[in-house]
Amino acid sequence: MRIEGKEYRTIWYEESVVKIIDQTKLPHNFVIKELKTVKDAINAIKVMEVRGAPLIGATAAYGIVLAIQESNDLEFIKKSAEELIQSRPTAINLKWAVDRTIQKLAGINSDQILRIALNEAKEICDEDEKFCENIGINGSKIIEEIYNKKKDTVNILTHCNAGWLATINWGTATSPIYHAYKKGIPVHVWVDETRPRNQGANLTSYELNEEEIPNTIIADNTGGILMQRGEVDMCIVGTDRTLSNGDVCNKIGTYLKALAAHDNNVPFYVALPSSTIDWDIKDAKDIPIEERNSEELSHVEGMDENNEIKKVLIYPNKSKAKNLAFDVTPAKYVTGLITERGISEASSDALKQLFKK
Ligand code: MRU
Repeated sequence: MRIEGKEYRTIWYEESVVKIIDQTKLPHNFVIKELKTVKDAINAIKVMEVRGAPLIGATAAYGIVLAIQESNDLEFIKKSAEELIQSRPTAINLKWAVDRTIQKLAGINSDQILRIALNEAKEICDEDEKFCENIGINGSKIIEEIYNKKKDTVNILTHCNAGWLATINWGTATSPIYHAYKKGIPVHVWVDETRPRNQGANLTSYELNEEEIPNTIIADNTGGILMQRGEVDMCIVGTDRTLSNGDVCNKIGTYLKALAAHDNNVPFYVALPSSTIDWDIKDAKDIPIEERNSEELSHVEGMDENNEIKKVLIYPNKSKAKNLAFDVTPAKYVTGLITERGISEASSDALKQLFKK
């Protein structure tokens, strides 16, 4: 997608170096950062220079490439793979991408191992781009149906950033929006600010602006009243891990939005590539929920009047804060899962049917 009119992907490999768009610098500064070692890749995931389930999966795959460039020693590669998986616990794409890459390396001669790992990382990226495009084609039909009935702008609420910055290209939740807009359907997006890190305000609104999609940032608690007023036609969110029974783990606050949508008969869709489905965990209580530094709550970063980035304390000095990064929306509140293969009911039977080989 575009930044200042120029097409980008979120991650690419050039002259033995992995390049990323440093998302901690957005929206005020656009900085391309180089990752040269596997430690750089682990750090980029931990501090959220890259973020979003599909993108951290792709970064981890490139992390294996960087590890191999440092050493052909199998023990080092395995240890690096484990550290990559541990770098953020909730998004399943991380483990999925690392396992997929490591499996491809089994039995490969050391002189071929780098080439094979690099091919796999590139394939993971190409596949994600294609899957997200298909999510867009499938999901845009829902937006079109709403438009055909309403004959007026379709208002879509989204939470966090499940846009192209969270994937390789297109995004998950935003791909249906980009595709509908390209078809000429008038859309407007309510962008949840998404405290504490403000991925909605800092990233989703930024990327929608760059694609000239009308959008308005709202405080996280505003969605409820907008739904009561009939100003939300549908919600589309992304996910970090969706269980095979259709329970959806996503950015903290998603569950409350789904409850409000349910109470107001607003359709609540979740967009995801199949790499985000966890076919193993059966009970949502077993999903590892990341708890992040409370400083993300107590401090806020922004640009001052001299165009300088400043971080300020907004809480009483002595206050404690708890920073859970994700919650789980039970399948019963999900209208449908928009995937690369089509739209599925959020249930075991429907998902199995859609993804049987
Ligand atoms: O903590 P983040 O910013 O990595 O959380 C990201 C989200 O919750 C996204 O909604 C999710 O990963 C889907 S991204 C396509």
